[in-house]
Amino acid sequence: MIRTLLLIFALLFLCGPVLAEETVCLQCHGGQEGRLGAPVGRWQTSVHAANGISCHDCHGGDPTDFALAMDPGKGFLGAPAYTDVPAFCGRCHLGVREDYAASAHGMALESGGPQCVVCHGNHAVQKASIDLINEQNCSRCHSYERAAEVRAAISQTEASLQQLEKQIEGLHRVGIDTEKIKGQLFAGRNDFRRLFHTVKIEKMKAETAGFTSRLDKIEAQIVAIEDKLSQRKMIGGLVVLLLVVGGCIAMLIRKSYHEEE
Ligand code: HEC
Ligand code: HEC
Ligand code: HEC
Ligand code: HEC
Ligand code: HEC
Repeated sequence: MIRTLLLIFALLFLCGPVLAEETVCLQCHGGQEGRLGAPVGRWQTSVHAANGISCHDCHGGDPTDFALAMDPGKGFLGAPAYTDVPAFCGRCHLGVREDYAASAHGMALESGGPQCVVCHGNHAVQKASIDLINEQNCSRCHSYERAAEVRAAISQTEASLQQLEKQIEGLHRVGIDTEKIKGQLFAGRNDFRRLFHTVKIEKMKAETAGFTSRLDKIEAQIVAIEDKLSQRKMIGGLVVLLLVVGGCIAMLIRKSYHEEE
């Protein structure tokens, strides 16, 4: 089940950015003021808008019917209460929801523990990164020390991830087919980034080790491709050199031939 959904998302992802369609939700809320209109502009900047996830995908309702758009009979859910947010977002982010629910944060939900929106925001959700772990976000409820430890546990691996992404991008630019290797990195990357939600430092350290060895294998493949490329460049260079040398010799021969005349 989870795999099927992940596959659907992977397919959506591969199809590239899907532009969100104009809906009655956007039309009517776009003309509202204050708390009713603000979500539209914020949502437009989000990773959700960029991936075609619109108002009704989160809030339910009928995006084609002006009058009945927000009818509960059409599946309209309204705005979720604080403690309902993990289930609300978790309809699509199943793995994250599982890890979160079992974590110290998830277990403290009823007594004010942080949920998805506290860290990611609601409408202007951006691509997630380690930068979300900072003093301002993480020292509201407890000391930053524990958060800093979490950040330290994952930052080395995060750095190698970004380095590999850059290298793959570089290979892609010179025309190498990088689909397969990108898929490998993508799957690993998502598993790794999910791990944060456990907020269990021991678990992160343990799994980071396993993940690092996966990254090492990907890096080895990239290095092999890069080596082949530079070999090809060297051979290309050699051929050019031979042609130049050949040309010079031919000229010398012609010159000495003319001189003899
Ligand atoms: C014709 C205008 C109109 C359309 C169309 C419309 N809305 Fe609304 N929406 C409003 C108004 C007005 C309110 C505030 C009053 C209310 O809650 O009924 C509101 C409230 C909301 C709220 C907040 C509810 C709460 O509990 O505070 C959400 C969420 C929402 N709309 C989402 C949507 C979505 C999703 C759609 C499309 C499926 C949609 N709206 C279509 C006018 C509209
Ligand atoms: C990624 C899911 C998501 C999408 C997409 C989304 N919302 Fe929301 N929206 C939420 C959540 C979660 C809340 C609850 C607010 C909170 O807890 O901060 C909310 C709250 C609201 C509210 C109540 C705001 C308030 O201050 O009372 C309105 C109105 C609303 N959304 C309208 C929209 C409209 C219009 C769109 C499309 C432009 C939209 N939402 C898209 C998740 C979403
Ligand atoms: C305490 C703050 C916090 C809470 C609560 C939280 N997140 Fe996150 N989330 C993060 C951080 C930090 C990252 C980035 C981790 C990294 O880059 O290694 C992240 C990453 C993600 C990602 C990207 C993972 C990937 O596959 O690339 C998604 C999706 C996500 N969170 C959704 C959610 C949802 C849904 C919830 C609620 C069930 C939630 N988050 C609760 C902080 C939080
Ligand atoms: C209707 C399905 C759906 C719902 C509901 C939903 N999302 Fe998403 N979310 C997506 C899709 C699709 C993407 C883009 C593909 C991806 O990166 O996974 C995405 C991307 C994200 C990302 C960026 C992941 C990354 O790679 O860095 C975060 C963070 C995130 N969502 C958090 C949330 C939060 C918080 C909520 C609830 C307020 C929420 N989502 C509700 C479908 C959904
Ligand atoms: C809204 C309040 C709140 C925010 C914001 C918050 N936390 Fe927490 N955190 C808690 C609560 C509650 C607990 C569980 C009780 C405890 O151990 O103090 C907890 C526990 C933890 C633990 C210990 C987990 C364990 O299993 O021992 C870590 C690590 C942690 N948080 C990291 C973070 C990081 C990183 C951030 C910022 C991205 C963050 N927290 C933001 C409330 C919060």
